[in-house]
Amino acid sequence: MTLWSGRMSEGPADSMMTYTQSIEFDQRLAIYDIKGSIAHVHGLGRAQILSAGETETIVSALTQVGAEIEGDSFVLMPSDEDIHTAIERRVTEIAGDVGAKLHTGRSRNDQVVTALRLYARDAATQVIGGVINLQTTLLDRARDAGTIYLPGYTHLQRAQPVLLAHQLLAHGWALGRDVDRLITTRMRLDVSPLGAGALGGSSLPLDPAGVAAELGFSKTFENSLDAVSDRDFVAELLFDLALLGVHLSRIGEEIVIFSSEEFGFYKLDDSWSTGSSMLPQKKNPDIAELARGKSGRLIGHLAGFLATLKSLPLAYNRDLQEDKEPLFDAVTQTARALDAISGLIRSLEFEVSRMQAAADSEELVAIDLAEYLVARGVPFRRAHHLVGELVRLRATRDDSLEELVAADARFGEDVSDLFAPGASVRRRLSPGGGGISQVAQQIVDYERHLARSRALAGFTDD
Ligand code: ARG
Repeated sequence: MTLWSGRMSEGPADSMMTYTQSIEFDQRLAIYDIKGSIAHVHGLGRAQILSAGETETIVSALTQVGAEIEGDSFVLMPSDEDIHTAIERRVTEIAGDVGAKLHTGRSRNDQVVTALRLYARDAATQVIGGVINLQTTLLDRARDAGTIYLPGYTHLQRAQPVLLAHQLLAHGWALGRDVDRLITTRMRLDVSPLGAGALGGSSLPLDPAGVAAELGFSKTFENSLDAVSDRDFVAELLFDLALLGVHLSRIGEEIVIFSSEEFGFYKLDDSWSTGSSMLPQKKNPDIAELARGKSGRLIGHLAGFLATLKSLPLAYNRDLQEDKEPLFDAVTQTARALDAISGLIRSLEFEVSRMQAAADSEELVAIDLAEYLVARGVPFRRAHHLVGELVRLRATRDDSLEELVAADARFGEDVSDLFAPGASVRRRLSPGGGGISQVAQQIVDYERHLARSRALAGFTDD
Protein backbone atom coordinates (compact mmCIF):
# COMPACT_ATOMS: atom_id res chain seq x y z
CA MET A 1 0.00 0.00 0.00
CA THR A 2 1.28 3.47 -0.82
CA LEU A 3 1.19 6.43 1.55
CA TRP A 4 -1.39 8.06 -0.68
CA SER A 5 -3.64 5.07 -1.46
CA GLY A 6 -6.74 6.86 -0.12
CA ARG A 7 -6.60 9.32 -2.97
CA MET A 8 -6.27 6.79 -5.82
CA SER A 9 -8.82 4.37 -7.18
CA GLU A 10 -6.08 2.13 -8.62
CA GLY A 11 -2.78 0.84 -7.24
CA PRO A 12 0.50 2.23 -8.57
CA ALA A 13 1.92 0.96 -11.86
CA ASP A 14 5.06 -1.13 -11.44
CA SER A 15 7.13 0.99 -13.81
CA MET A 16 6.05 4.14 -12.01
CA MET A 17 7.30 2.71 -8.71
CA THR A 18 10.50 1.36 -10.25
CA TYR A 19 11.31 4.70 -11.78
CA THR A 20 10.43 6.93 -8.85
CA GLN A 21 11.71 4.86 -5.91
CA SER A 22 14.83 5.89 -4.05
CA ILE A 23 15.09 2.91 -1.71
CA GLU A 24 17.88 1.59 -3.90
CA PHE A 25 20.19 4.37 -2.74
CA ASP A 26 18.75 6.16 0.28
CA GLN A 27 19.23 3.49 2.95
CA ARG A 28 22.24 5.45 4.11
CA LEU A 29 19.73 7.88 5.62
CA ALA A 30 18.09 5.23 7.84
CA ILE A 31 19.76 6.15 11.13
CA TYR A 32 19.19 9.84 10.47
CA ASP A 33 15.53 9.28 9.63
CA ILE A 34 15.06 7.43 12.91
CA LYS A 35 16.78 10.21 14.87
CA GLY A 36 14.61 12.81 13.14
CA SER A 37 11.45 10.77 13.75
CA ILE A 38 12.21 10.28 17.45
CA ALA A 39 12.75 14.04 17.88
CA HIS A 40 9.54 14.71 15.95
CA VAL A 41 7.55 12.31 18.17
CA HIS A 42 9.00 13.88 21.31
CA GLY A 43 7.86 17.25 19.93
CA LEU A 44 4.34 15.90 19.36
CA GLY A 45 4.40 14.61 22.93
CA ARG A 46 5.46 17.98 24.32
CA ALA A 47 2.66 19.62 22.35
CA GLN A 48 0.25 17.03 23.79
CA ILE A 49 -0.74 15.95 20.31
CA LEU A 50 0.40 12.50 21.43
CA SER A 51 -0.19 11.16 24.95
CA ALA A 52 2.82 10.10 27.03
CA GLY A 53 1.93 6.46 26.38
CA GLU A 54 1.63 6.96 22.61
CA THR A 55 4.90 8.84 22.53
CA GLU A 56 6.65 6.08 24.37
CA THR A 57 5.15 3.32 22.16
CA ILE A 58 6.20 5.03 18.92
CA VAL A 59 9.66 5.94 20.18
CA SER A 60 10.28 2.39 21.33
CA ALA A 61 9.09 1.04 17.94
CA LEU A 62 11.46 3.48 16.20
CA THR A 63 14.29 2.36 18.47
CA GLN A 64 13.53 -1.27 17.61
CA VAL A 65 13.56 -0.48 13.88
CA GLY A 66 16.91 1.22 14.39
CA ALA A 67 18.26 -1.93 16.05
CA GLU A 68 16.89 -4.08 13.22
CA ILE A 69 18.60 -1.88 10.65
CA GLU A 70 21.85 -1.94 12.56
CA GLY A 71 21.64 -5.71 13.03
CA ASP A 72 20.86 -6.23 9.34
CA SER A 73 17.57 -7.94 10.13
CA PHE A 74 15.38 -5.21 8.67
CA VAL A 75 13.42 -6.59 5.73
CA LEU A 76 12.43 -4.30 2.88
CA MET A 77 9.10 -4.79 1.11
CA PRO A 78 8.57 -4.31 -2.61
CA SER A 79 6.14 -1.50 -1.79
CA ASP A 80 8.78 0.47 0.17
CA GLU A 81 9.34 3.51 -1.98
CA ASP A 82 12.10 5.00 0.07
CA ILE A 83 13.75 4.41 3.44
CA HIS A 84 11.38 6.86 5.13
CA THR A 85 8.32 4.93 3.95
CA ALA A 86 9.94 1.65 4.92
CA ILE A 87 10.66 2.81 8.46
CA GLU A 88 7.14 4.15 8.96
CA ARG A 89 5.67 0.91 7.62
CA ARG A 90 7.72 -1.14 10.05
CA VAL A 91 6.88 1.17 12.99
CA THR A 92 3.19 0.59 12.30
CA GLU A 93 3.75 -3.16 12.13
CA ILE A 94 5.42 -3.04 15.55
CA ALA A 95 3.33 -0.40 17.30
CA GLY A 96 -0.05 -1.17 15.74
CA ASP A 97 -2.58 1.60 15.18
CA VAL A 98 -0.71 4.18 17.21
CA GLY A 99 2.13 3.94 14.65
CA ALA A 100 -0.21 5.70 12.23
CA LYS A 101 0.22 8.84 14.36
CA LEU A 102 3.97 9.09 13.67
CA HIS A 103 3.54 11.24 10.59
CA THR A 104 1.26 13.77 12.32
CA GLY A 105 2.21 17.34 11.42
CA ARG A 106 4.99 16.16 9.16
CA SER A 107 5.53 15.61 5.46
CA ARG A 108 8.20 13.61 3.74
CA ASN A 109 9.29 16.95 2.35
CA ASP A 110 10.56 18.24 5.69
CA GLN A 111 11.40 14.72 6.84
CA VAL A 112 13.81 13.86 3.99
CA VAL A 113 15.69 17.10 4.07
CA THR A 114 16.09 16.83 7.85
CA ALA A 115 17.62 13.39 7.46
CA LEU A 116 19.85 14.64 4.65
CA ARG A 117 21.12 17.58 6.73
CA LEU A 118 21.92 15.24 9.61
CA TYR A 119 23.79 13.00 7.20
CA ALA A 120 25.59 15.95 5.61
CA ARG A 121 26.75 17.20 9.00
CA ASP A 122 28.35 13.83 9.79
CA ALA A 123 29.72 13.45 6.28
CA ALA A 124 31.37 16.89 6.42
CA THR A 125 32.94 15.96 9.76
CA GLN A 126 34.19 12.67 8.37
CA VAL A 127 35.76 14.34 5.33
CA ILE A 128 37.32 17.09 7.46
CA GLY A 129 38.93 14.35 9.56
CA GLY A 130 40.32 12.72 6.43
CA VAL A 131 41.73 15.98 5.10
CA ILE A 132 43.36 16.81 8.43
CA ASN A 133 44.87 13.34 8.45
CA LEU A 134 46.35 13.91 4.99
CA GLN A 135 47.62 17.33 6.05
CA THR A 136 49.32 15.64 8.99
CA THR A 137 50.93 13.10 6.67
CA LEU A 138 52.30 15.96 4.58
CA LEU A 139 53.65 17.61 7.72
CA ASP A 140 55.37 14.40 8.83
CA ARG A 141 56.89 13.94 5.39
CA ALA A 142 57.97 17.58 5.28
CA ARG A 143 59.80 16.96 8.55
CA ASP A 144 61.35 13.77 7.12
CA ALA A 145 62.48 15.79 4.12
CA GLY A 146 64.69 18.03 6.30
CA THR A 147 66.92 20.07 4.01
CA ILE A 148 66.45 17.89 0.90
CA TYR A 149 65.89 20.10 -2.12
CA LEU A 150 64.66 19.60 -5.64
CA PRO A 151 63.96 21.81 -8.64
CA GLY A 152 60.81 23.89 -8.36
CA TYR A 153 59.02 24.08 -11.72
CA THR A 154 57.03 26.60 -13.67
CA HIS A 155 55.55 25.49 -16.99
CA LEU A 156 57.02 22.14 -15.88
CA GLN A 157 60.45 23.56 -16.74
CA ARG A 158 63.10 23.66 -14.03
CA ALA A 159 62.92 27.09 -12.44
CA GLN A 160 64.54 27.45 -9.01
CA PRO A 161 65.56 24.97 -6.32
CA VAL A 162 63.15 24.67 -3.38
CA LEU A 163 63.10 22.48 -0.33
CA LEU A 164 61.09 19.29 -0.73
CA ALA A 165 59.30 20.27 2.49
CA HIS A 166 58.18 23.47 0.75
CA GLN A 167 56.79 21.50 -2.18
CA LEU A 168 54.92 19.09 0.12
CA LEU A 169 53.48 21.82 2.32
CA ALA A 170 52.26 23.78 -0.71
CA HIS A 171 49.68 21.01 -1.08
CA GLY A 172 49.07 21.03 2.67
CA TRP A 173 48.06 24.71 2.66
CA ALA A 174 45.60 24.14 -0.19
CA LEU A 175 44.07 21.32 1.87
CA GLY A 176 43.87 23.73 4.82
CA ARG A 177 41.59 25.94 2.74
CA ASP A 178 39.44 22.89 2.01
CA VAL A 179 39.09 22.29 5.73
CA ASP A 180 38.12 25.95 6.32
CA ARG A 181 35.49 25.70 3.59
CA LEU A 182 34.04 22.45 4.91
CA ILE A 183 33.82 23.88 8.42
CA THR A 184 31.87 26.93 7.22
CA THR A 185 29.65 24.78 5.01
CA ARG A 186 28.91 22.67 8.06
CA MET A 187 27.97 25.83 9.97
CA ARG A 188 25.56 26.92 7.24
CA LEU A 189 23.84 23.56 7.00
CA ASP A 190 23.18 23.57 10.72
CA VAL A 191 19.45 24.40 10.37
CA SER A 192 16.51 22.14 11.21
CA PRO A 193 13.73 22.09 8.56
CA LEU A 194 11.42 19.87 10.63
CA GLY A 195 8.08 21.54 11.26
CA ALA A 196 7.85 23.05 7.78
CA GLY A 197 5.41 20.28 6.85
CA ALA A 198 4.74 19.78 3.17
CA LEU A 199 5.44 23.44 2.43
CA GLY A 200 3.48 25.84 4.64
CA GLY A 201 3.57 24.57 8.23
CA SER A 202 0.67 23.05 10.14
CA SER A 203 -2.42 23.98 12.14
CA LEU A 204 -1.10 21.76 14.94
CA PRO A 205 0.98 23.38 17.69
CA LEU A 206 4.32 21.95 16.55
CA ASP A 207 7.58 22.76 18.33
CA PRO A 208 10.26 23.18 15.63
CA ALA A 209 12.69 24.83 18.05
CA GLY A 210 12.49 21.99 20.57
CA VAL A 211 12.92 19.44 17.79
CA ALA A 212 15.91 21.35 16.39
CA ALA A 213 17.53 21.42 19.83
CA GLU A 214 17.04 17.68 20.32
CA LEU A 215 18.69 17.02 16.95
CA GLY A 216 21.63 19.23 17.84
CA PHE A 217 20.80 21.85 15.20
CA SER A 218 21.59 25.35 16.38
CA LYS A 219 18.76 26.98 14.43
CA THR A 220 15.38 26.24 12.97
CA PHE A 221 14.07 27.45 9.62
CA GLU A 222 12.63 30.96 9.12
CA ASN A 223 10.44 30.18 6.11
CA SER A 224 8.75 26.84 5.57
CA LEU A 225 8.79 27.13 1.76
CA ASP A 226 12.54 27.74 1.82
CA ALA A 227 13.06 24.98 4.39
CA VAL A 228 11.74 22.24 2.10
CA SER A 229 13.20 23.68 -1.14
CA ASP A 230 16.68 24.56 0.05
CA ARG A 231 19.44 22.25 -1.11
CA ASP A 232 22.19 24.88 -1.04
CA PHE A 233 24.02 22.79 1.52
CA VAL A 234 24.20 19.89 -0.94
CA ALA A 235 25.51 22.12 -3.73
CA GLU A 236 28.01 23.69 -1.33
CA LEU A 237 29.28 20.37 -0.11
CA LEU A 238 29.57 19.15 -3.69
CA PHE A 239 31.62 22.23 -4.51
CA ASP A 240 33.86 21.76 -1.47
CA LEU A 241 34.42 18.14 -2.45
CA ALA A 242 34.97 18.98 -6.12
CA LEU A 243 37.65 21.53 -5.26
CA LEU A 244 39.18 19.17 -2.73
CA GLY A 245 39.11 16.56 -5.52
CA VAL A 246 40.95 18.97 -7.78
CA HIS A 247 43.61 19.44 -5.11
CA LEU A 248 43.95 15.67 -4.72
CA SER A 249 44.18 15.38 -8.47
CA ARG A 250 47.07 17.84 -8.57
CA ILE A 251 48.84 15.94 -5.79
CA GLY A 252 48.20 12.75 -7.76
CA GLU A 253 49.60 14.22 -10.95
CA GLU A 254 52.77 15.29 -9.14
CA ILE A 255 53.26 11.78 -7.77
CA VAL A 256 52.69 10.29 -11.23
CA ILE A 257 55.35 12.57 -12.71
CA PHE A 258 57.83 12.37 -9.87
CA SER A 259 57.67 8.58 -9.73
CA SER A 260 58.27 8.19 -13.48
CA GLU A 261 61.69 6.91 -14.44
CA GLU A 262 62.37 10.18 -16.26
CA PHE A 263 62.12 12.14 -13.02
CA GLY A 264 62.86 9.36 -10.52
CA PHE A 265 62.26 11.63 -7.50
CA TYR A 266 59.87 9.32 -5.67
CA LYS A 267 59.99 5.56 -5.34
CA LEU A 268 56.57 3.94 -4.80
CA ASP A 269 56.11 1.44 -2.03
CA ASP A 270 55.06 -2.03 -3.21
CA SER A 271 51.94 -2.08 -1.01
CA TRP A 272 50.71 1.19 -2.41
CA SER A 273 51.21 0.50 -6.11
CA THR A 274 49.95 -1.99 -8.66
CA GLY A 275 51.67 -4.19 -11.22
CA SER A 276 50.94 -4.98 -14.82
CA SER A 277 49.12 -8.07 -16.05
CA MET A 278 51.56 -8.39 -18.93
CA LEU A 279 54.76 -6.45 -18.27
CA PRO A 280 56.57 -8.06 -15.35
CA GLN A 281 58.74 -5.06 -14.49
CA LYS A 282 55.92 -2.52 -14.05
CA LYS A 283 55.03 -0.70 -10.85
CA ASN A 284 52.18 1.74 -11.36
CA PRO A 285 50.90 4.70 -9.34
CA ASP A 286 47.20 3.77 -9.66
CA ILE A 287 46.07 5.61 -6.52
CA ALA A 288 47.55 8.83 -7.83
CA GLU A 289 45.96 8.29 -11.25
CA LEU A 290 42.53 7.57 -9.78
CA ALA A 291 42.75 10.68 -7.62
CA ARG A 292 43.25 12.53 -10.89
CA GLY A 293 40.55 10.59 -12.74
CA LYS A 294 37.88 10.70 -10.07
CA SER A 295 38.12 14.47 -9.75
CA GLY A 296 36.24 14.57 -13.07
CA ARG A 297 33.39 12.67 -11.50
CA LEU A 298 33.26 15.05 -8.52
CA ILE A 299 33.11 18.07 -10.81
CA GLY A 300 30.34 16.28 -12.73
CA HIS A 301 28.30 15.77 -9.55
CA LEU A 302 28.46 19.49 -8.80
CA ALA A 303 27.60 20.60 -12.33
CA GLY A 304 24.83 18.00 -12.64
CA PHE A 305 23.22 18.92 -9.36
CA LEU A 306 23.29 22.66 -10.06
CA ALA A 307 21.52 21.87 -13.33
CA THR A 308 18.90 19.91 -11.37
CA LEU A 309 18.26 22.85 -9.03
CA LYS A 310 18.17 25.51 -11.69
CA SER A 311 14.62 26.66 -12.54
CA LEU A 312 12.87 24.54 -9.91
CA PRO A 313 9.77 26.31 -8.69
CA LEU A 314 9.13 26.49 -4.95
CA ALA A 315 8.76 24.33 -2.94
CA TYR A 316 9.40 20.56 -2.96
CA ASN A 317 9.62 18.94 -6.39
CA ARG A 318 10.50 15.33 -6.96
CA ASP A 319 13.59 16.49 -8.85
CA LEU A 320 15.08 17.13 -5.42
CA GLN A 321 15.35 13.39 -4.84
CA GLU A 322 18.34 13.66 -7.19
CA ASP A 323 20.29 15.30 -4.35
CA LYS A 324 21.26 11.98 -2.80
CA GLU A 325 23.28 9.92 -5.25
CA PRO A 326 25.79 12.62 -6.16
CA LEU A 327 26.27 13.60 -2.54
CA PHE A 328 26.66 10.04 -1.27
CA ASP A 329 29.02 9.14 -4.07
CA ALA A 330 31.10 12.30 -3.66
CA VAL A 331 31.48 11.64 0.08
CA THR A 332 32.38 7.97 -0.37
CA GLN A 333 34.88 8.65 -3.13
CA THR A 334 36.49 11.53 -1.28
CA ALA A 335 36.84 9.62 1.99
CA ARG A 336 38.47 6.69 0.20
CA ALA A 337 40.75 8.94 -1.82
CA LEU A 338 41.96 10.73 1.31
CA ASP A 339 42.87 7.47 3.04
CA ALA A 340 44.59 6.01 -0.01
CA ILE A 341 46.60 9.12 -0.87
CA SER A 342 47.66 9.56 2.71
CA GLY A 343 48.97 5.97 2.74
CA LEU A 344 50.67 6.49 -0.60
CA ILE A 345 52.46 9.65 0.53
CA ARG A 346 53.40 8.18 3.88
CA SER A 347 55.15 5.30 2.10
CA LEU A 348 56.93 7.27 -0.65
CA GLU A 349 60.67 6.93 -0.70
CA PHE A 350 62.53 10.13 -1.54
CA GLU A 351 65.27 9.66 -4.13
CA VAL A 352 67.45 12.35 -2.64
CA SER A 353 70.39 12.19 -5.02
CA ARG A 354 68.14 12.38 -8.10
CA MET A 355 66.26 15.39 -6.80
CA GLN A 356 69.32 17.27 -5.62
CA ALA A 357 71.34 16.51 -8.75
CA ALA A 358 68.48 17.91 -10.86
CA ALA A 359 68.33 21.02 -8.68
CA ASP A 360 72.11 21.49 -8.77
CA SER A 361 72.05 21.83 -12.55
CA GLU A 362 73.94 25.07 -13.00
CA GLU A 363 71.33 26.94 -14.97
CA LEU A 364 69.20 27.05 -11.87
CA VAL A 365 71.78 29.42 -10.38
CA ALA A 366 70.76 32.08 -12.94
CA ILE A 367 68.41 34.03 -10.65
CA ASP A 368 70.99 33.95 -7.84
CA LEU A 369 73.59 35.36 -10.26
CA ALA A 370 71.22 38.17 -11.22
CA GLU A 371 70.47 38.91 -7.56
CA TYR A 372 74.22 38.84 -6.81
CA LEU A 373 74.60 41.71 -9.30
CA VAL A 374 71.55 43.50 -7.88
CA ALA A 375 73.19 43.41 -4.45
CA ARG A 376 76.12 45.23 -6.10
CA GLY A 377 73.90 47.99 -7.42
CA VAL A 378 73.09 46.71 -10.93
CA PRO A 379 69.43 47.43 -11.85
CA PHE A 380 67.52 44.12 -11.99
CA ARG A 381 66.48 44.37 -15.66
CA ARG A 382 70.12 44.89 -16.62
CA ALA A 383 71.31 42.04 -14.38
CA HIS A 384 68.65 39.73 -15.87
CA HIS A 385 69.83 40.59 -19.37
CA LEU A 386 73.49 40.05 -18.55
CA VAL A 387 72.92 36.64 -16.99
CA GLY A 388 70.59 35.70 -19.86
CA GLU A 389 73.42 36.46 -22.29
CA LEU A 390 75.82 34.25 -20.34
CA VAL A 391 73.34 31.38 -20.36
CA ARG A 392 72.89 31.84 -24.12
CA LEU A 393 76.66 31.94 -24.64
CA ARG A 394 77.10 28.78 -22.63
CA ALA A 395 74.78 26.91 -24.96
CA THR A 396 77.19 27.57 -27.83
CA ARG A 397 80.44 26.80 -25.97
CA ASP A 398 82.05 23.97 -24.08
CA ASP A 399 82.62 26.17 -21.03
CA SER A 400 80.37 25.74 -18.06
CA LEU A 401 78.33 28.65 -16.79
CA GLU A 402 80.54 28.70 -13.72
CA GLU A 403 83.64 29.13 -15.89
CA LEU A 404 82.02 31.88 -17.94
CA VAL A 405 81.01 33.73 -14.82
CA ALA A 406 84.46 33.31 -13.26
CA ALA A 407 85.98 34.87 -16.35
CA ASP A 408 83.56 37.82 -16.28
CA ALA A 409 84.91 40.94 -14.54
CA ARG A 410 81.45 42.05 -13.45
CA PHE A 411 81.42 39.24 -10.91
CA GLY A 412 83.74 38.99 -7.90
CA GLU A 413 85.62 35.88 -6.82
CA ASP A 414 83.02 35.00 -4.21
CA VAL A 415 80.51 34.28 -7.00
CA SER A 416 81.73 30.70 -7.09
CA ASP A 417 79.94 30.17 -3.73
CA LEU A 418 76.65 30.38 -5.61
CA PHE A 419 77.52 27.23 -7.54
CA ALA A 420 78.06 25.11 -4.44
CA PRO A 421 75.46 22.33 -4.14
CA GLY A 422 72.42 23.55 -2.19
CA ALA A 423 73.70 27.14 -2.02
CA SER A 424 70.51 28.48 -3.55
CA VAL A 425 68.17 27.15 -0.83
CA ARG A 426 70.59 28.24 1.90
CA ARG A 427 70.63 31.81 0.55
CA ARG A 428 66.86 32.15 0.04
CA LEU A 429 65.69 34.41 2.86
CA SER A 430 62.38 36.02 1.91
CA PRO A 431 59.37 35.16 4.10
CA GLY A 432 57.22 32.30 2.80
CA GLY A 433 59.95 31.32 0.34
CA GLY A 434 61.38 27.89 -0.35
CA GLY A 435 64.71 28.26 1.48
CA ILE A 436 65.90 26.55 4.64
CA SER A 437 65.34 29.22 7.30
CA GLN A 438 61.89 30.23 6.07
CA VAL A 439 60.62 26.69 5.64
CA ALA A 440 61.59 25.96 9.24
CA GLN A 441 59.29 28.83 10.26
CA GLN A 442 56.62 27.63 7.83
CA ILE A 443 56.53 24.22 9.47
CA VAL A 444 55.84 25.87 12.83
CA ASP A 445 53.05 28.02 11.33
CA TYR A 446 51.55 25.08 9.47
CA GLU A 447 51.45 22.99 12.59
CA ARG A 448 49.72 25.81 14.46
CA HIS A 449 47.18 26.18 11.64
CA LEU A 450 46.53 22.46 11.71
CA ALA A 451 45.93 22.50 15.47
CA ARG A 452 43.50 25.39 15.00
CA SER A 453 41.63 23.48 12.28
CA ARG A 454 41.38 20.46 14.55
CA ALA A 455 39.91 22.56 17.33
CA LEU A 456 37.48 24.40 15.00
CA ALA A 457 36.35 21.12 13.49
CA GLY A 458 35.60 19.81 16.98
CA PHE A 459 38.36 17.21 17.13
CA THR A 460 40.20 17.14 20.41
CA ASP A 461 43.91 17.57 20.11
CA ASP A 462 45.71 14.60 21.57
N1 ARG B 1 12.33 9.88 -1.60
C1 ARG B 1 11.82 11.21 -1.74
C2 ARG B 1 13.02 12.18 -1.75
O1 ARG B 1 14.07 11.75 -1.53
C3 ARG B 1 10.88 11.48 -0.69
C4 ARG B 1 10.03 12.67 -0.88
C5 ARG B 1 8.86 12.37 -1.67
N2 ARG B 1 7.91 13.40 -1.42
C6 ARG B 1 6.86 13.56 -2.17
N3 ARG B 1 6.10 14.55 -1.88
N4 ARG B 1 6.62 12.81 -3.22
O2 ARG B 1 12.96 13.36 -2.01
